[in-house]
Amino acid sequence: MQISPLHPEFGAEVREVDLASELSREEVKQIDLWANEYSLLLFRQQHMNDDAHLAFTEYFGVPEEEHTAYYGRGEIAYLGTVGNVDENGSKLGNQNRGVRSGRGNEMWHSDSSFREVPSLYSILCAYEVPDEGGDTEFISTRSAFDRLDQDTQSRLQGMVVVHDYIYSRTKVSEDAVNEGQRMYMYPVRQRLIRRNPVTRQQNLYIGSHARDIEGIETEEARTLLHELLQQASRGESIYRHQWQVGDVLLWDNRCLLHRGCGYDADRYRRYMRQTRVRGAGPTLAENV
Ligand code: OGA
Ligand code: MN
Repeated sequence: MQISPLHPEFGAEVREVDLASELSREEVKQIDLWANEYSLLLFRQQHMNDDAHLAFTEYFGVPEEEHTAYYGRGEIAYLGTVGNVDENGSKLGNQNRGVRSGRGNEMWHSDSSFREVPSLYSILCAYEVPDEGGDTEFISTRSAFDRLDQDTQSRLQGMVVVHDYIYSRTKVSEDAVNEGQRMYMYPVRQRLIRRNPVTRQQNLYIGSHARDIEGIETEEARTLLHELLQQASRGESIYRHQWQVGDVLLWDNRCLLHRGCGYDADRYRRYMRQTRVRGAGPTLAENV
């Protein structure tokens, strides 16, 4: 395998590996190390399918149940569709409820930060991509943390942030969540500062689901969260991925934020599949 960086702050492309074939323990260990180090890995021209995708996911840990099926319909599914193509292969337009609630992904977020045990990695495979639009942007909250002055860094240590899916999704529209989601998706407590157990680097853990900071007035907390996000997402720190069919991205949700850039679902088809690897445990139990 060969590796070359994608952006000065994070990200790398890995070449000469076929993810649909069986990987050796050494290869898996190397990919996992690179994921810890680079946070985002791109594999191009892959020939994936759902079975290969799930098998690749399982090399890194326990797959996470896809949350819309789980909380919304009481079903367990490990693969989720990202985009606007339904199970019959039909294109869904801009007004479709699923497509509209998917627009929530256009805010900077970390996948599953609203779960008690949030996700470690997300793995996204592109099967159909729009002719225009549909890019995905990434930023590193590890680099963002490093850019803060020491006083700010120490002030943030130990802070606990409340993440809430209902809060973030109802910013998009009131009907973006259903009854099941309202009933089962409760707010959770997450550390604001996390530390990677392999590289020992610290990072911010924020994003669209972050609703409050414990012990701080809501207005002040939202201002602080907003400022941290603004600083993290300055232009030169963004890596924008323009998808090609066959691309596979694996990213570290502990220290990256990402967002969809939107596309015209009436005109174009976008079909991608996603899995996630469950994190090691609640963030409050982590060593920092
Ligand atoms: C995701 C996600 C953004 C996009 O798959 O988790 O946020 O560009 N996707 O679709
Ligand atoms: Mn996402």
